[in-house]
Amino acid sequence: MSPKPALRINTTTLWEYPSQHYASASGVTEQGDRDYVGATPSWILWQLLQRYTRPKDLVVDPMCGSGTTIDVARDLGRRALGYDLNPQRSDIFRADARHLPLEPEVADFVFVDPPYSTHVDYSDDPACIGKLSAGGDDNGRAYFDAMERVIAEIDRVLRPDRCMALYVSDSYQKGSGALGRCPRGRLMPIGFELFMRLRRPFVPVDVVTVVRHNRKLEQGNFHKAAEEENFFLRGFNYLFIMRKPPGDRRSQAPRDRVEARGERRGKHGTDRPRDRQGAGKTVRPTSERRKGGKSSTPASREDSGSGQRSGVPRKGPPAATRSDEDRALREFRRRGRNPRRAPKPGKGTPPKKGT
Ligand SMILES: C[S@@+](CC[C@H](N)C(=O)[O-])C[C@H]1O[C@@H](n2cnc3c(N)ncnc32)[C@H](O)[C@@H]1O
Repeated sequence: MSPKPALRINTTTLWEYPSQHYASASGVTEQGDRDYVGATPSWILWQLLQRYTRPKDLVVDPMCGSGTTIDVARDLGRRALGYDLNPQRSDIFRADARHLPLEPEVADFVFVDPPYSTHVDYSDDPACIGKLSAGGDDNGRAYFDAMERVIAEIDRVLRPDRCMALYVSDSYQKGSGALGRCPRGRLMPIGFELFMRLRRPFVPVDVVTVVRHNRKLEQGNFHKAAEEENFFLRGFNYLFIMRKPPGDRRSQAPRDRVEARGERRGKHGTDRPRDRQGAGKTVRPTSERRKGGKSSTPASREDSGSGQRSGVPRKGPPAATRSDEDRALREFRRRGRNPRRAPKPGKGTPPKKGT
């Protein structure tokens, strides 16, 4: 067996993994289980955890399968929690990714490699998302609704200003025959659909394409059919890397965020800088400042909670961006001064149905 290539951080958005597993410094040559159908290449996890986590960070995988994420996280000195409906080992907890038994905002990084439609029969569990077609009679609605709930759960457990990554492929259902030169099959653009849903709670950090190396692609008859029937085999997976914006957007009133920006509403409804030097600077939201930047959850108590560990400042985006705060300000204006008050009907809002 030829030695595995040395690990190096990838610097472009086109990734080609040299082998499904890497050889760790401790001599381990397999992470997860190579025989688990649909196992994630451990090399991808290595790249992500090197860039977006630090030692002792808590890494969570809500669809952990054979445990690749856990193995890579531990190899790199990170803490890890893995869940799956069909756990393959005793250190993976049985749970539905839509209801994780975890407190809010405890994870420093979340990775998820979900089922891509119905290609693999993972288990008999009716809650398995791999039983839902992304291109079924319902146009994939049940699949995307389920994935939307997984994304919402990831948002709930991820700490603000931390990253998550979702690894997924589009899918193509072959049809019979062709209409002229136009194939009858059906493309399920799962990547674009999930990216749209990820963008609601998260801010995109980057989009990586990972060259696929699955066994189908090595078989000549698949290539022959693709040519004769005029369709494409899936040659890449998407790796969407997203960041959760800072601050607790559910509990934090927009007013706090306006204050955090160093601006306040003027007498005539205009916003002006409280202090010119502060304008445009990034500041932590008031609620976070009040708490001293610490979360009250047990897992985060182990960490500094300040975004810094071992005196090393966390790299990456600033604490709050102009666009986040501008959005908060617009929302504040839309709702009026009291953020809890719904906008009055007739004042720029459509009337309720049936009234
Ligand atoms: C692509 S595999 C993940 C592979 C894994 N990253 C690895 O390296 O072994 C998708 C996993 O999602 C799990 N799954 C499907 N629906 C689920 C759900 N509702 N909650 C939790 N896990 C689910 C399946 O059991 C399967 O293990």
